[in-house]
Amino acid sequence: MTVAAAVGRRWRGARLSAAALLALLALALLALTAGRGGGGSGAGQPGSPPPPPLPPGLREELRQRRRDLLRLEAAAGGGEAASGGLGCGDLSLATGVSVLGWGFTKVVARAALAGGGAVALKSVHGAGREVRQCVLRYGAPAGCRRLAAYKLLKEVTLLQRLRHPGIVQLHGQCYDNSGDPEIRVTAMLELGSPLEMIQLLQTPWEERFKICLSLVELLFYLAHSPLGSIVLLDFQPRQFVMVDGNLKVTDMDDASTEELSCKEDNDCTLDFPTKSFPLNCSAAGKCEGINEKKNLFNAYRYFFTYLLPHSAPSALRPFLSDILNATGDLRYGINETRKAFEKVLHLYKSGLYLQKRPLLLKDYISLKGFRMVEGEDYKCWPSYSHLGCLLSVHSAEEAATICNSQSQCQSFIITQQRTWTGRPLASFQSSLTDLIPDANAVIYVKRSASSGERL
Ligand SMILES: Nc1ncnc2c1ncn2[C@@H]1O[C@H](COP(=O)(O)OP(=O)(O)O)[C@@H](O)[C@H]1O
Ligand SMILES: *[C@@H]1O[C@H](CO)[C@@H](O)[C@H](O)[C@H]1NC(C)=O
Ligand SMILES: *[C@@H]1O[C@H](CO)[C@@H](O)[C@H](O)[C@H]1NC(C)=O
Ligand SMILES: *[C@@H]1O[C@H](CO)[C@@H](O)[C@H](O)[C@H]1NC(C)=O
Ligand SMILES: [Mg+2]
Repeated sequence: MTVAAAVGRRWRGARLSAAALLALLALALLALTAGRGGGGSGAGQPGSPPPPPLPPGLREELRQRRRDLLRLEAAAGGGEAASGGLGCGDLSLATGVSVLGWGFTKVVARAALAGGGAVALKSVHGAGREVRQCVLRYGAPAGCRRLAAYKLLKEVTLLQRLRHPGIVQLHGQCYDNSGDPEIRVTAMLELGSPLEMIQLLQTPWEERFKICLSLVELLFYLAHSPLGSIVLLDFQPRQFVMVDGNLKVTDMDDASTEELSCKEDNDCTLDFPTKSFPLNCSAAGKCEGINEKKNLFNAYRYFFTYLLPHSAPSALRPFLSDILNATGDLRYGINETRKAFEKVLHLYKSGLYLQKRPLLLKDYISLKGFRMVEGEDYKCWPSYSHLGCLLSVHSAEEAATICNSQSQCQSFIITQQRTWTGRPLASFQSSLTDLIPDANAVIYVKRSASSGERL
């Protein structure tokens, strides 16, 4: 069943305990934000008398949003939507609801399902900027929440049709259209954690590269999606979450499948605060590639510039500079950008970037059948463990180079742990105490560290 059909049928949901809880949370947020001089909103007061008819302006906006939604559903192949699985019944049994975050339109909470899994619940933020501004204009809180609900319904429709590892997964939804003019919608989504840019800046380059690569894969999918080329109009780090170390976009209500219409090339300037790009108007009257280019430049300015260059392996820097320059000037489209990223990944995984280095492993003695007792040791940056110096390496040879460059390092082992690229983690140590037998391990000791002893 399509979203519009569900809403049109005025389907009555089960008892919505979790949804009611969410509504309460939204009210609590209202109390929080009202103090910041927002004011003017009487949103969500229970037990109010029957609502007066909606103002004509709001009715028109509602009509438009409904029409856009129907058009999107039609373009997306009507009833073929994946139903997602979870419904109002699951929502009514959900417990442990706590707010994760909110934006202008929606509030998101975490909840535990009866089966034990956890999901993110998205609903309209009754005290958010979108609803508040509408209420200031039209003075009709319930109608304004309905208007915002159409945005969430649009997001649900898009999430039903778009499947990609870079898009948060929709597990289900629940509508309650009984409180005319309001529609209560709750979307149940894969749970993530908000993107912390500051924290990301402190992670190893390999992890930051992974995020940029996931983003490139997502933009490639969006450029060639089953619904056409999709642009994320509100493209900012806060519209993304991390799920198991993977970047996923969660805010899709500001996505558009339309490319800007034009009469001449002059209608097609792509404007950013710092830069603008002239594009061509196609024979079909569309600004060619504008959606793809807008996404790509936003990826450049919000992600690549911060995450890609800093502390990259030096041999990869020219390739990364080229990616930054080419996306920053929109010389590359998404296809070329993806190729360039894959090339860097290949160079990195294969260790080709290490060529023409002095070989230093010969300065180490290898003790087979031993490893170090795990414990605290000296720290290095950007370590995969806060207890010591644990770094991703291509080989024992690269580990030897790293150990030589750190004055405290006396020995290292190559652990069984692997990063996402399949590279092993090496653990670097400052002392040689506490060796324990381990048939599968090898410990490499600096010859100078064994102070001339022949081991
Ligand atoms: N699946 C999710 N898991 C965890 N947090 C999420 C999830 N989806 C959204 N959030 C958090 O909720 C905030 C608001 O969600 P979003 O969809 O961006 O709403 P809005 O349209 O109001 O901006 C996001 O900035 C993010 O921090
Ligand atoms: C616009 O079209 C002209 C030729 O018609 C071409 O030379 C130019 O590269 C195009 N510009 C863009 C941005 O695609
Ligand atoms: C790309 O390189 C050219 C030539 O060096 C330079 O003029 C331009 O400013 C660079 N663009 C970006 C976005 O770095
Ligand atoms: C980019 O790649 C897609 C998918 O492989 C292909 O359909 C499209 O034609 C390519 N676009 C350009 C400009 O090369
Ligand atoms: Mg958002």
